[in-house]
Amino acid sequence: MTRKTTNFQVHLAFCYSSLLLGGFSGAQCIPRNSLTFRSPVTVFSGLSATPIFNNLTTPRGITIDSNQNLLVVERGFGVTAFKENDSTCSNGWLRTIVIQNTEFTQGIQVSGESLYVSTDSEILRYVYDPTTRTVIGNPVVIISGIPPGGELTTRPFLLQPSTNPISILASCPLSENIDPTARDPNSGRSQIRSFPLPSTSSPSTSQDFFSGTLLAFGIRNPAGFAFHPLDSSLTKLWIIDNGASIGNVTGLTDTFVNDNPADELNVAEIQKGKENNFFGFPDCTTIWNPKVDPTGDPQFINFHTGEQFSLQLESERDDEWCQNIENNIPPRLSFQAHSVPLDLKFFNPRHNVVSQTSLPVAWSGDAFVSFHGSFDRTPPTGYRVVRVPFTSSNPIPIPISPPTSKNGYDFVVQATNLGTCPGTCIRPVGLVFGSDGRLFVTSDSSGELFVVSS
Ligand SMILES: *[C@@H]1O[C@H](CO)[C@@H](O)[C@H](O)[C@H]1NC(C)=O
Ligand SMILES: *[C@@H]1O[C@H](CO)[C@@H](O)[C@H](O)[C@H]1NC(C)=O
Ligand SMILES: *[C@@H]1O[C@H](CO)[C@@H](O)[C@H](O)[C@H]1NC(C)=O
Repeated sequence: MTRKTTNFQVHLAFCYSSLLLGGFSGAQCIPRNSLTFRSPVTVFSGLSATPIFNNLTTPRGITIDSNQNLLVVERGFGVTAFKENDSTCSNGWLRTIVIQNTEFTQGIQVSGESLYVSTDSEILRYVYDPTTRTVIGNPVVIISGIPPGGELTTRPFLLQPSTNPISILASCPLSENIDPTARDPNSGRSQIRSFPLPSTSSPSTSQDFFSGTLLAFGIRNPAGFAFHPLDSSLTKLWIIDNGASIGNVTGLTDTFVNDNPADELNVAEIQKGKENNFFGFPDCTTIWNPKVDPTGDPQFINFHTGEQFSLQLESERDDEWCQNIENNIPPRLSFQAHSVPLDLKFFNPRHNVVSQTSLPVAWSGDAFVSFHGSFDRTPPTGYRVVRVPFTSSNPIPIPISPPTSKNGYDFVVQATNLGTCPGTCIRPVGLVFGSDGRLFVTSDSSGELFVVSS
């Protein structure tokens, strides 16, 4: 016998199964302070790092909701929530499933009752309830038509801090290691665009990626970007970038490419009329260690860290062209080659909240960057979280160290035995600060979620 199902019943059945998954069958508890890292970590003096959860499925992007629940993109699985001090978990951490979707890759943001996630071609908005840590109904597509696929399928994005109108900044990375199409902004590759954020009350149609205002391009992998909390008019967008693997570029020795090019902290001036910043990819890249191979690659010995050189893909885009800031904007600060920065967050503690577990208030306004670490350097580097000290004003804060510095940042937490990495070492990806000033970090290949606190 068949029975006609009404839409109402279908809807109920859908809610019930997601409740089962999210609320019960998928729930897991980890008691407080019961885990150890899979590989040892070293923490900056005065701080401690503690695993919260392990055995996660490639945890990547992380954000925190208005009830201080962590929301994590477990790549290849979906979005999960982590609630602290849960009574059903002996006051430990409770993990529940928010959305099961294998298409989510990294991007995640939450604002009140809106949860945003990205696939390789779209940004979606769900109605989200921070009390139950569940989504309600189907998502709305906010941005569509982001060039899909490619070597990197991550599509990081940023909800602009409150201004009127609120914007959403969406990005697309390279399609291949050295991507000639990225030279043309109409490729959609290696760039960041800005869009008005459709209000939650109006029925919205999705906006095409190419309709957005181009803010910056020639950024190979714009994996993380943020405004400084004191930059209230949102004039400078800080963007991290990973340099290409240049082992196949003619004329460069293995010794040289082991220590070059630098990874980057860039700054795009984005006030009206100053958009379209070009940051060099694929033609121009950045010196980290100019003197690493004085015999094999003597042409670089008079360069400085942070200076631009040409990969000579096109004859007119030579070193001189790359070094002209009319053509190409060099990084504001360089990171050691092969560090692979994947997220950037500013520390903005609430001064009226006194918390013993907060990172030092003296670090207010500093940038924190995750270094995922690379496979193509001997010995390995990365596998850490670093802090980039910023000035307190200028009038808008900038890094304390000059662009030529190799010491513009310091570690916060790192794998103790780099020689064993990747192995089970931490491979930090996503960063988010709690309102109490603790720093939460995802580590993808080790499957860990951990917290850094005082
Ligand atoms: C993680 O998974 C491994 C392998 O399945 C298992 O041996 C271990 O007990 C798990 N750890 C936790 C904390 O669940
Ligand atoms: C959980 O409890 C600890 C210890 O009392 C506290 O520091 C922390 O802020 C609490 N977390 C939340 C989200 O309330
Ligand atoms: C370098 O070239 C080899 C051989 O063609 C290729 O297998 C490899 O993927 C290339 N490496 C990069 C980083 O492009």
